[in-house]
Amino acid sequence: MKKLNRLYLGTNTKMYKTIAETTSFLTQLRQLTEDLADSPLTLFVIPSFTSLESANRITSGSHIRLGAQNMCWEDQGQFTGEISPVMLKEVGVSVVEIGHSERRHVFRENDFDQEKKTAKAAQSGFTPLLCIGETLTQREYGLSGETLSTQLKVGLHSITTEQAEQLWIAYEPVWAIGVNGIPADSDYVAERHAGIRRILCARFGEEQGSRIPILYGGSVNPQNAQELIALPDVDGLFIGRSAWDASQFNRIIRQVMPLYMNK
Ligand code: 13P
Repeated sequence: MKKLNRLYLGTNTKMYKTIAETTSFLTQLRQLTEDLADSPLTLFVIPSFTSLESANRITSGSHIRLGAQNMCWEDQGQFTGEISPVMLKEVGVSVVEIGHSERRHVFRENDFDQEKKTAKAAQSGFTPLLCIGETLTQREYGLSGETLSTQLKVGLHSITTEQAEQLWIAYEPVWAIGVNGIPADSDYVAERHAGIRRILCARFGEEQGSRIPILYGGSVNPQNAQELIALPDVDGLFIGRSAWDASQFNRIIRQVMPLYMNK
C-alpha cells in the first residue's frame, strides 16, 4: 500500500552536464513528459549551478521542478564560493538538495552543516531534499539504522512539524551510488525505508510523518526501478546516471508510474 498519492521522480546531474547539455536534456524531457503535466507525478531536475538560469527558462510554466545541488545557510555574507537562498530564488529553484553523499564524503560536510542548510531552506520556502545514507563500513558494523537515525535527528533538528510538510527525504546508501555502486537489494531497501518512516513519525507525529516522501537513490536503473518503486514506503526514486538521457529517464517514468499508482 502506498501512503502518498503522488510519485516523486528526479535526477541530480552532479558535475556532468554543461549549460548546453542541460538545456538540450530539459527540452527533450519536457516534450517527452508533457502529457504527464496533470498526473500525480512530481518530476524534478537538479542541474549544475551554472545551468540554472537557462534551465529555468525551459522549465518555468512546465511540470518540471528545478532544484539546486547545494545551498549556503545564510542569505549573504563572507562565504566565498557559496550560493545563497536569495540567489537560488532568482533563478526559479524550488527544491534544494542537502547532504548528498558526495557533499558529505568528498567535501566533508557533517550533520550539523545539513541541519543549518535544511533549516534555512525550509525558512526560505524551498523544499529541502535531505539526503541520508550509510557507508559500507557502517553497514558491515551493523550501524545502518543508527547512522540514518543520527543523520535524520541532527539534520531535521530545527524543522517544525509545519515545515515538514515541504520536506522530502532521499535514502541513498553510499555504497550503492555512482559508477562503483553496488545496487542494494529490495529487502534491504524496504527495511531501511520502514526505519526512516518510523523516525519521521516519531519526530513529526504519525500523520505528518506518514506524508513525507521518502525517495530511494543509488544505482537505480531500468532493470531495478520497478522492483524498487513497488516497495512499501518507497515514494519515489532519485536517479543519477540512468536518468541523464531524457529518453531513458522517460522510459523509467513510464515503467514505474502505473506500478506506483496501483500499489
Ligand atoms: P546513481 O544513480 O548514478 O548511482 O546516482 C544516484 C545519486 O547520487 C542521485 O543523487
